[in-house]
Amino acid sequence: MKRVITYGTFDMLHYGHINLLRRAKELGDYLIVGLSTDEFNRQKNKISYFNYEERKKYLEAIKYVDEIIPEDSWDQKIDDIIKYKIDVFVMGDDWKGKFDFLKEYCEVIYLPRTPVISTTLLKQNILGGEKDKHGERK
Ligand code: CTP
Repeated sequence: MKRVITYGTFDMLHYGHINLLRRAKELGDYLIVGLSTDEFNRQKNKISYFNYEERKKYLEAIKYVDEIIPEDSWDQKIDDIIKYKIDVFVMGDDWKGKFDFLKEYCEVIYLPRTPVISTTLLKQNILGGEKDKHGERK
């Protein structure tokens, strides 16, 4: 049984998140998501639209996700990898190189981000960008 872990906020769940979760699960048999708590988001200067319990609820409904644990600090990763017997640590490549120190403990993989979608972009578009008359994103 190969165990995989990834971390993130996953606010306003979108297909970029789903692609990441699908590819993460394909790297093993059991996927754990370390979901950033609201308090940890505040430390990162990030305010999510959906709170922790709401984000947890919709992630639980994703078939690729087997377990969700809270992420409440930057330095819990080594402990998590040991505690949950993790074989593969996965993040999008916006984090490339940032977690190479974990290679001592497990495999570290950065997956290419899905282009042109992010929570930030969704928030901006909802605030006014939306789509043009041809249905294209502005
Ligand atoms: N992710 C991805 N492709 C995207 C958006 C996110 O692969 N288009 C990945 C990130 O690399 C990360 C995980 O999804 O591994 C969770 O990312 P998160 O920061 O929660 O999502 P974003 O949409 O990037 O949010 P924000 O715009 O607030 O940074």
